Amino acid sequence: MERVRARLETAPEHRRRTGRPLVTLSYAQSLDGSIADRPGRPLTLSGTQSMILTHGLRSSHEAILVGIGTVLADNPRLNVRLVSGHSPQPVIVDSRLRFPPYANLLRNGRSPWIVTNEGADRERQEALEATGARVIRLPASNGLVDLAALLERLAEMGLNSLMVEGGAQIITSFLASRLVDQVILTIAPLLVGGLRVVDNLGYSKLRRFPRLSNLIYQRLGEDLVLMGEPDWEA
Ligand SMILES: NC(=O)c1ccc[n+]([C@@H]2O[C@H](COP(=O)([O-])OP(=O)(O)OC[C@H]3O[C@@H](n4cnc5c(N)ncnc54)[C@H](OP(=O)(O)O)[C@@H]3O)[C@@H](O)[C@H]2O)c1
Repeated sequence: MERVRARLETAPEHRRRTGRPLVTLSYAQSLDGSIADRPGRPLTLSGTQSMILTHGLRSSHEAILVGIGTVLADNPRLNVRLVSGHSPQPVIVDSRLRFPPYANLLRNGRSPWIVTNEGADRERQEALEATGARVIRLPASNGLVDLAALLERLAEMGLNSLMVEGGAQIITSFLASRLVDQVILTIAPLLVGGLRVVDNLGYSKLRRFPRLSNLIYQRLGEDLVLMGEPDWEA
């Protein structure tokens, strides 16, 4: 957490320099790189101590982002419960406004920001706004939310730091777009053979894969936590 806090102290300068918030990618995977046993199904991977770390990370960031697939699968709260501290602003990437009215995120204190495409259904937007959610429209990129445009918008709205928690498609998109500044990965001692967390980064033919530098490894309970910064030219 000391190293994370030190990095996050540079976030305002990072936003001024790059025009986007500092992005921390943080998720849990099994030994074989699965994030869930199958799409749409929740699976607890992190042990108690790693979960406490996750909540500490949440409280250190100004906003937290997941994809609509994670909302539909896990119905997460994305708030801080296991440590004391502020809960981050939830941001949901949802190009077709599939966000459900029963979501725990609507009963959480901080209403979610739901980021969608220009062409998304207006009635769905009104229904979501009636629940207190804020809907942000952006031009689409290949039918999905344009993540670079989203980060620019979040920076314009004053956010310096963003934690990206999942799921698999969102993690893959952030990595493929090279929009990740640091990675904090929990590896649980479990073999699942399930939903692969990173699937086809799109530039693998170039034989250039991001390698993490400035690595720290730490054991937390039975889990291994790894932290590093992607070197996109490796
Ligand atoms: N172990 C962990 O740390 C962890 C953390 C989070 C989630 N999970 C697991 O991950 C699974 C969900 O992952 P998932 O891959 O199905 O869903 P996801 O990554 O949460 O959401 C993917 C959806 O987001 C929307 N989207 C919009 N713009 C996008 C973009 N630029 N890039 C990617 N997606 C975009 C798409 O739906 P639309 O086309 O409808 O917009 C897409 O289907 C669940 O099983 C959950 O339990 C695990």
